[in-house]
Amino acid sequence: MTRHFLRDDDISPEEQNEILDLALRLKADRYSAKPLAGPQTVAVIFDKSSTRTRVSFAVGISDLGGSPLIISTANSQLGGKETPSDTARVLERMVSAIVWRTYGQSGLEEMANGTAVPVINALSDDFHPCQLLADLLTIREHKGRLAGLTLTFIGDGACNMAQSYLLAGATAGMHVRIASPKGYAPTPAVVADAEKRAELTGGSITVLEDSRVAASDSDVVVTDTWVSMGKEEEKAARLDSLASYRVDTELMSHAKDDAVFMHCLPADRGFEVSAEVIDGPQSIIWDEAENRLHAQKALMVWLLEQA
Ligand code: CP
Ligand code: NVA
Repeated sequence: MTRHFLRDDDISPEEQNEILDLALRLKADRYSAKPLAGPQTVAVIFDKSSTRTRVSFAVGISDLGGSPLIISTANSQLGGKETPSDTARVLERMVSAIVWRTYGQSGLEEMANGTAVPVINALSDDFHPCQLLADLLTIREHKGRLAGLTLTFIGDGACNMAQSYLLAGATAGMHVRIASPKGYAPTPAVVADAEKRAELTGGSITVLEDSRVAASDSDVVVTDTWVSMGKEEEKAARLDSLASYRVDTELMSHAKDDAVFMHCLPADRGFEVSAEVIDGPQSIIWDEAENRLHAQKALMVWLLEQA
């Protein structure tokens, strides 16, 4: 049966581990898997801007022997002119997988529903599961394990990255903490789903407001932009509400001495993170960015094997 990857908990803890193991093997031997030889085409569709996702999918698809077809919805029929479902019916006749960066999660669900080729969420308003595979891979490389580690997200707890940390971190058996101001907490349904996962894996979920308490004794501290794509009109209010949630050296001093700092990028230095932290010795952001390539290649290989 065709499998899709629309949210982090679409894969089981065992499957997540399998994909991360495969990512490490592909990182060590970059051109060793060619499931897209032909070349077969993968459609990579963008409703929103991107640097890392666009490049890592294009390069990754080429590495796997395939041909990436990058589509901007600004000049395609998708995006108001044709439904995700009709678009999928056409694309599945010609491509081997569909990767889509969009706004609502419901569009992705419609795209995937009954579609014969894997559909991959390349970021929605709710989740960024491909980024999380890369982040978990990076943490595993730096810390040697995932289960049992404490990962703390500081900032906009309702954004796609925070919500993906909840689901993917719980799946990996991590203790995930989210610290955000009132009005910026993750969706209760996502917290509940993450708690269910954590019960299975021995992880835990904590949602709170105090960023210092949250950062205390953490192994990993993460943040993301305060103004996600689509939220530009709320910029002034967001900068005001989130001003005391900056990750700076003072906040990092509450985490473990060997804690690492992560950010999916793009970053606004001086807002969600100080330059001293993001460009300092605890930051592992460049490994994190590179790992998009290896993690997504592993995901595509794995999804194509399930079909
Ligand atoms: N982290 C991430 O998804 O970056 P892009 O928006 O550049 O793809
Ligand atoms: N939360 C950010 C992530 C960017 C990769 C956004 O959605 O804009």
